[in-house]
Amino acid sequence: MTTPIDATATPAWAELTAHKNVFAPDLRAWFDADPGRVERLTFDLADLRVDLSKNLVDAGILTSLVALAEQTGVAERYAAMLAGTHINTTEDRAVLHTALRRPAGAEPKLVVDGQDVDHDVQGVLDAMSAFAERVRSGEWTGITGKKVQTVVNIGIGGSDLGPAMISAALEPYATAGIQARFVSNIDPFDLAHKTADLDPETTLFIVASKTFTTLETLTNARLARDWLWAGLQNADAIDGSEAQRTDAVAHHFVAVSTALDKVAAFGIDTANAFGFWDWVGGRYSVDSAIGLSLMLELGPDSFRELLAGFHAVDEHVATTPLASNVPVLMGLLNVWYTNFLGAQSHAVLPYAQQLSRFAAYLQQLTMESNGKSVRWDGSPVTTDTGEVFWGEPGTNGQHAFYQLIHQGTRLIPADFIAFANPAYPLKDGERDVHGLFLANFLAQTKALAFGKTAAEVEAEGTTGALVAARTFAGNRPTTSIFAPALTPTVLGELIALYEHITFTQGVIWGINSFDQWGVELGKQLALQIAPAIEGDDDAYASQDASTRALLDYYRTHRQG
Ligand code: F6P
Repeated sequence: MTTPIDATATPAWAELTAHKNVFAPDLRAWFDADPGRVERLTFDLADLRVDLSKNLVDAGILTSLVALAEQTGVAERYAAMLAGTHINTTEDRAVLHTALRRPAGAEPKLVVDGQDVDHDVQGVLDAMSAFAERVRSGEWTGITGKKVQTVVNIGIGGSDLGPAMISAALEPYATAGIQARFVSNIDPFDLAHKTADLDPETTLFIVASKTFTTLETLTNARLARDWLWAGLQNADAIDGSEAQRTDAVAHHFVAVSTALDKVAAFGIDTANAFGFWDWVGGRYSVDSAIGLSLMLELGPDSFRELLAGFHAVDEHVATTPLASNVPVLMGLLNVWYTNFLGAQSHAVLPYAQQLSRFAAYLQQLTMESNGKSVRWDGSPVTTDTGEVFWGEPGTNGQHAFYQLIHQGTRLIPADFIAFANPAYPLKDGERDVHGLFLANFLAQTKALAFGKTAAEVEAEGTTGALVAARTFAGNRPTTSIFAPALTPTVLGELIALYEHITFTQGVIWGINSFDQWGVELGKQLALQIAPAIEGDDDAYASQDASTRALLDYYRTHRQG
């Protein structure tokens, strides 16, 4: 295991500390004095135009940030990841989500730990495509011979968030009359609500779980199976015999997992299962078989376009010098804000209603990856890690929380994401509504960067205490990401961008961004507390006083 380099002990860190000590950001002055700033800080990353010019950095700070990436070995660790080194040290695993989107026939071939990775990845993609074509064409049917109309993905975390986010984002590409739904929560409302209007005869369930041990997913899968059997029996489609129930599962359930033995134990024929591998982390798994629901809904071609988008960004990271490597630069900016300017959160604000789940997706990607207090060798971290990621689409957010970003006391760096072309071009009279939408995106980034001085407020006739209230300090950092349209390729590029931003920050902090031990304790305790909920007095007595009091409340209020 390589020892992590302590970023705080590097010369670059000392330089950045010195910059910070005399830091007086003034975006207005910087833009006025430097006509080349926008061009110098704007990059094309595949189809994405990324404008970093409204960030709180000058040339000296940027040079020191790039030096920090050099001195902490970001490029070397990226190369180690691509090559299949076991950089997930606590689980002794390679980290190879980038292999999932290598094009067929890529050279040189990737063989890791004796596995022909390219061969296996393409094999599963081909099997997924063939299955998707059968379902989409109507060749694969439910037990009564009806074409599948709804695919219900049952999974949670990485086995839910990516497909759910992309399904919403690429809804205009769902052209085969198949709609995907996503059940994740063990709250029984989720399954009940999402199946309430479905016809069991035209519904296909995908049980998606890397481990196939996750309590929520297996519980929901059993509930879904009961729902299917009951519905088919009510419709006289099956008689309830064991043989017909098994047949019903064979027609209406498929699985995605790395644990095909457990899939079989659940009762799903492994001929109807799609595998992946332990070197795909859950939150990096959307372009593995975990994306099966997307293949069914959007079709194999769109899915492969999505993968091509991911790959274009992987290539950029692998081949571009650090000083113009966009994900690396964005990761470095986050380090600057987090470790030097005290930012605790980061907003991601898509000007695209279709990206309504993008922030939720990024929360798992970034926070499960970099919410760590120890480094990859087990030693404590030497600086703050993992900021809180959050967001909502504009313009909704403008009417909710933007006030705090504009005039609050906390620094909140924000990424704005927008598309030149809408999915649905609508006109309000003569006015292009999408144009109006984009005017808001541009207005917000402008207001945040340049603010409004007291003199400007007074020049409009405002006087007294209102002047201060109406003044905007500006110098609120934003990155603008603009793309032609929200296509599968562009979405793949966007997701890969954030994967590699996360990676960059993780390397600088010396942490393993690919494990998630922090979620284990709660899972164990839930299993210990469940018997107490069900009335076991010993389990009740072994709880702490607060938990016992909450159990008391439950026992007195639960009806039935
Ligand atoms: O509990 C966290 C987690 O392990 C995530 O990392 C993962 O994406 C999710 O649970 C679901 O896990 P699985 O795909 O094994 O059901």
